[in-house]
Amino acid sequence: MFKGALFDLDGVITDTSILHFEAWRKLVDTFFSSELPDSLEEKTKGVSRTDSLKVILKHLDVSVSETMFQQLLVEKNAYYKEALQGISSEAILPGVSDFISELKQQQVRLALASASLNGPFILDKLDLRDSFDAIVDPRSVARGKPAPDIFLAAAAALKLKPSKCIGIEDSIAGLRAIKDSGAFSVAVGKTTELQKADLTLSTTAELKLTTICKAYFH
Ligand code: BG6
Ligand code: MG
Repeated sequence: MFKGALFDLDGVITDTSILHFEAWRKLVDTFFSSELPDSLEEKTKGVSRTDSLKVILKHLDVSVSETMFQQLLVEKNAYYKEALQGISSEAILPGVSDFISELKQQQVRLALASASLNGPFILDKLDLRDSFDAIVDPRSVARGKPAPDIFLAAAAALKLKPSKCIGIEDSIAGLRAIKDSGAFSVAVGKTTELQKADLTLSTTAELKLTTICKAYFH
């Protein structure tokens, strides 16, 4: 049986991935009078705020000064935080609270392995902070997702080998990070690339201990 569960946040625990992309769209509209195609959403999923902005500027084919780059990061986060104001435990995705309870009953330890600097703030809003034994600060790892660093750090924070952990992700970058960490990968979503996980579920409502154990011991 696995002893640790390493959770992504945006798109796994709560549906904030939509709010992230809406904030990027607002930024691009305001500063560049341009629209972002839907296809860019996946490319900004799981990756840090800085890396997301790089992807977006590349798409727009614009270069900005370092000062402007930093300002854009601050503005994007301001839009995002504005959208987060009303968030509460009602925004926890279906099945997640029950799954956390099941894990706790089996003494599985929980760590947050999110690229988001807003992770602790959001967990507080969702009233979930106490459920986590460790929260990795994404600034403490050398490389962001798709590198495995944050999942390795999350397992280490739980004092567990990655092979004794499951990692749960909704992004392609995040799935690669879990796989390269050596943890058992659980992907949530319908994208073709997510089928490469050890176990792929269509929605968080399917996050059930029995389902995961069956795949883990297969
Ligand atoms: C990830 C999101 O969880 O966090 C990305 O999937 C986001 O879209 C990244 O860019 C960083 O989030 P934040 O809150 O630090 O801007
Ligand atoms: Mg995610």
